[in-house]
Amino acid sequence: MIFSATLMMALATGLTTQAEQAKKHPYQDVKRPVEERVADLVARMTLEEKLGQLTQLTLGQNTNHNNIADPVGDVAGETGSVIYFGEDPEIHNLMQEKALKTRLGIPVLFGYDVIHGFRTIYPISLAQAASWDPELVELACAVAAREARASGVAWTFSPMIDVARDPRWGRIAEGYGEDAYTNGVFAAASVRGYQGSDMSAADRVAACLKHYVGYGASEAGKDYVYTEISRQTLWDTYLPPYQAGIEAGAATVMSSFNDISGVPGSANPYLLTEVLKNRWGHKGFVVSDWGSIQQLVNQGVAADNKEAALKAFTAGVEMDMMNGAYAPHMAALIDEGKVTMAQVDDAVSRILTLKFQLGLFDKPFVKVVPESERYLQPASLAVAEKLAEESIVLLKNKDGLLPLSADVKRIALIGPMVEGDTHLLGSWSFHGREEDVFGILEGMKGEFGGKAELLIARGSDFDGEDRSGFEEAVRAASAADVVVLCLGEKKQWSGENASRSTIALPEIQQALAEEIARVGKPVVLVLSNGRPLELRGLEPIAESIVELWQPGVAGGRPLAGVLSGRVNPSGKLAVTFPYSTGQIPIYYNHRQSARPWGGQGLYQDIPSTPLYDFGHGLSYTTFQYGDVVLPKTEFTVGEKFTVRISVRNSGDRSGIETVHWFINDPVCSISRPVKELKHFERQEIPAGESREFVFDIDPLRDLGYVDADGRHFVEPGDYFIIVGEARVRIVLK
Ligand code: BGC
Repeated sequence: MIFSATLMMALATGLTTQAEQAKKHPYQDVKRPVEERVADLVARMTLEEKLGQLTQLTLGQNTNHNNIADPVGDVAGETGSVIYFGEDPEIHNLMQEKALKTRLGIPVLFGYDVIHGFRTIYPISLAQAASWDPELVELACAVAAREARASGVAWTFSPMIDVARDPRWGRIAEGYGEDAYTNGVFAAASVRGYQGSDMSAADRVAACLKHYVGYGASEAGKDYVYTEISRQTLWDTYLPPYQAGIEAGAATVMSSFNDISGVPGSANPYLLTEVLKNRWGHKGFVVSDWGSIQQLVNQGVAADNKEAALKAFTAGVEMDMMNGAYAPHMAALIDEGKVTMAQVDDAVSRILTLKFQLGLFDKPFVKVVPESERYLQPASLAVAEKLAEESIVLLKNKDGLLPLSADVKRIALIGPMVEGDTHLLGSWSFHGREEDVFGILEGMKGEFGGKAELLIARGSDFDGEDRSGFEEAVRAASAADVVVLCLGEKKQWSGENASRSTIALPEIQQALAEEIARVGKPVVLVLSNGRPLELRGLEPIAESIVELWQPGVAGGRPLAGVLSGRVNPSGKLAVTFPYSTGQIPIYYNHRQSARPWGGQGLYQDIPSTPLYDFGHGLSYTTFQYGDVVLPKTEFTVGEKFTVRISVRNSGDRSGIETVHWFINDPVCSISRPVKELKHFERQEIPAGESREFVFDIDPLRDLGYVDADGRHFVEPGDYFIIVGEARVRIVLK
């Protein structure tokens, strides 16, 4: 694409369009404070121009089949924002040039779903959480921000921080698991990584917390459906990650699709105005989810798109993402006295404020550099690989089969995932490319080349009934010392609108595993998937199980490192692996049953406990937890104190241990979970050495609770601090 003569001249001289040449209004003066520039600009705008700012359209051809949009050739220059499906900075610059030529020359805000990387795809969020390494996640988000901004995308619709406890729901892949505190920590880390300390920097973007709120509670794991959430559960489970993200400075929030006990997330004044803006003081803006305003009609709370616009706007949704609701109806709503101009001005001001903060007015164009300089830089790939390594969870390792011993000379590499490179990218990786992925086969060849022979057989597809590859797979297994069986999910099986009625792998993969097991060789089961799986059929077949998740471009290299022992696995689950689909919902921080003896709510036909607990994950070394050290055992409610524990690496190689600190309040005026994660810390411990892990307790924050209207309180009485196997009683006076 060739730049127009005007733009070339503009870039060269610093002068652009009519609006820029005028350079006379306060809003165009870089030296003035943002508030002043916004106020000046809003005062000059016509209603039509204001409505343009409240509107988000799309630019480029969408490849997300859930939201088909036409390739938009003709986005008006007055449009507030576009979802940019392309990645060419020149098209971005042309669009900005068009915007700058309009009467007031307001730049367009380019947004996109940069979910786990832009082009350098790193592991899905559910995997990231298993690393328990927020600093590394922050770095990964910074890589994504740099690549996105270089294409002109200044706003990502991320992080997704919906607590999810139903793995049938495909979007469980996009969040940080089943726990509110964990989602909050990673929300804050992502916001820091995307936004940095100055969003106008050429390598930062604005973040968007989504989907506000409770979307993860979708009934029966189906997408876009009703959610039944009490105010108590909203406050103790679904809202905390958002509060953490807002406190970290998230610029924007996306309102959710789900109907929350009768009041949809995109028309919910309590959540959008009372909580988000009034109580938490969020100064940014709220964008609807795609079509979530017009969908208020489908949900039965608005008669038509006009009423939907009224409900969403007055509830606190400032930007209309692909609803065609605000621009056509707002003028009439103002005439009818249902919406005031002051409300419109407030919404427009919030959006313009972000545009100023992003530096779009002062630096509207991005420098055009070739893809090879924008993407997949060595330092970025290193971050992606490290995160993939840290995300891997060793679920089972019977008799220390892993790491593979040097005596293993022939490895049978079997299963549909062996060459399923594209699926290692996971959902929401639209700019990711298969050729960027370092596949499992490539990883294994690199790691074991010259040391062991690889016998490769696909065996079967991901689903279907074709067993014609079984024979070859059995031959490979028979000739090998060890079988590495790579099963899992296609990337389309999780993410948006990708619910599954069972979380077990399809029959054909189970059948392949059984066929291989009959050969009698030791089996390492490698899983790549976007949700917890039901493994009751596969677990007995495998000596070792490695959860690789969907690791992104680093793909098979970290996996091969774990198999060879070059990498000592350190990931721990941030989500429970049920024993069977019938146990769903199952999560660690459930409340106490009325008859807890003999287990909670027993099933007659299956165990009632999960196969793998939240926090489960093995290492090649062993860790011994010492005694919990407290300054005393009785404290006043206002007294802060520190608890410590020493952990010793009692094995013969260095390893990383994450210590999870839980609390339990056995008696409270509102019943509380059996345990609640309040803090975690990750440290490398060399063989034979010990490290101290510390939990600084602020009783109101860490021992207290929240009521059904969000009031934090702490009651005197007994509490337990739970760490490792220890459960230590303390008393608050
Ligand atoms: C999804 C959002 C996404 C938006 C824009 C919607 O369908 O629910 O998560 O940000 O599309 O692509």
